[in-house]
Amino acid sequence: MEKNLEIISSLCKRRGFIFPSSEIYGGINGFWDYGPLGSELKRNIRDAWWHFMVQWRNDVVGLDATIIMHPRVWEASGHAAGFADPMVDCKDCKKRYRADQLCEEQGKQLIRDGKNLLLPEGVVCTECGSKNLTQPRSFNLMFKTYVGPVEDDSAAAYLRPETAQAIFAEFLNIVATARKQVPFGVAQSGKSFRNEVNPRNYTFRSREFEQMELEFFIRPDEAVELICGKVTTLADNPDLTGEPQEDWGWEVWHRYWVEQRLTWYRLAGLPQEDLHLYWQTKDELAHYARACVDIEYAFPFGVQELEGIAARSDFDLTQHQKYSGKSMQVQDDRLRLACEAMTPEAKEAFKAKVIADWRARGKDALEAAQFVEDLFLGRYIPHVIEPSAGTDRLALALLCNAYDEEHLTDAKGKEDIRTVLRFAPALAPVKVAVLPLVKNKPELRDKAWKLYADLRRHWKCAWDETGAIGRRYRRQDEVGTPFCVTVDFDTLENDTVTIRLRDSMEQIRLPISEIVSYVDKSLTL
Ligand code: GAP
Repeated sequence: MEKNLEIISSLCKRRGFIFPSSEIYGGINGFWDYGPLGSELKRNIRDAWWHFMVQWRNDVVGLDATIIMHPRVWEASGHAAGFADPMVDCKDCKKRYRADQLCEEQGKQLIRDGKNLLLPEGVVCTECGSKNLTQPRSFNLMFKTYVGPVEDDSAAAYLRPETAQAIFAEFLNIVATARKQVPFGVAQSGKSFRNEVNPRNYTFRSREFEQMELEFFIRPDEAVELICGKVTTLADNPDLTGEPQEDWGWEVWHRYWVEQRLTWYRLAGLPQEDLHLYWQTKDELAHYARACVDIEYAFPFGVQELEGIAARSDFDLTQHQKYSGKSMQVQDDRLRLACEAMTPEAKEAFKAKVIADWRARGKDALEAAQFVEDLFLGRYIPHVIEPSAGTDRLALALLCNAYDEEHLTDAKGKEDIRTVLRFAPALAPVKVAVLPLVKNKPELRDKAWKLYADLRRHWKCAWDETGAIGRRYRRQDEVGTPFCVTVDFDTLENDTVTIRLRDSMEQIRLPISEIVSYVDKSLTL
């Protein structure tokens, strides 16, 4: 079935998943509110991510940092100077575009002239057709605000454009308190803000959104080599499905996280065939990045990024060391002990090899020598692998994936269309709807209400007593509730209920005492 974003967004509005922010005042472009069902969906996504990335592992801890941080954080990270999109304006109708998107829509590419970007010939305003466009200008995407009562530059601060930087800024506190040794990770989910030039595709590109990010700190390959005597690369065919190994180099760790994240998206219900990997080319990579892969999903408006997974070397912590004056080195006792056992000749040979390697990559020999001396003392700045996902983008992908229209014909040959959201049960906003067969029999209604009160203590449940039972099932199908429990006259006799399953529409009879274990079994990702 072809998915249609207009139909999906209209269902989201009608059933309380997503509303335009401040709609009573006409809305505000790029901002969305999640209603009663949308807020449950997003919370389930966040929780499922946290379980998989933090709770089920021994090597990842969490963080919940502030949205506004010291402005130096953004100088160190490079966002203050470089977090910008190229923007063009139509001088006639005043419409504003992101230059790369405008060109792309017209089958053209921005021209790079040194540090400047230029519009190619023939690009026109899509609104009014004018050729009277400005050349691209850089527009910083960070939202600026002022801390305290005085609105001057000394009080300027930014709403974070990513959650990741707080992890680097808190790195030393976490190392001092979490009792974790490299390799280990720090995860955070929360709001981020970007003053996008052109928010579009519903919630896909918003100005306020949520991210779920992990910074996974690893040893530099040179430290791995000193400890293990070798560095495992992808060419060695490591098993990426088992436990991580001490001899893995950055390349294997990077691929491990790509596999972990793909597994998680599949568990969340996205089919393998709709997930794509895009490996950034050497030209597209940031100067410090060694590799970056985007996990993309086939949205109704095209294949687009859900998550980026970057191998960022030691760039971020090194920048924060430079800007804060605080050493970001960790002490690695495994490394120190391995180096203490080396002969002076072996150390010299290792040092010469690293200096030659660094030189070949255009890096400074003195820096390389200092780096090796520090390694011999068990000290280094960790490198990092960063899987960075968007919560809202995943919510949108799950809504698009779950949406289905089923053509049914009943026993009398009457045709009908059933709209159903086929969420993975663990992510469905409501797990169980309790439906008393009739509402005018107090004994039956009371029994159902008591069951509803009991089940609510386990998961988010719904109560619906209005309309024919078939209509009530359909109402729950449309919001993706995997189980409907119907309390009927037999329930009063023998304490059993009917459980109606969303996907197959099958109905089974179960004792009330078995509902919790029956539903729970389907809720693990
Ligand atoms: N720390 C790295 C980082 O922020 P990014 O590729 O800019 O990398 C990571 O963002 C993820 O955040 C994206 O893959 C996307 O899912 C989400 N994201 C980024 N900008 C967004 C926006 N304007 N609206 C919704 N989600 C966004």
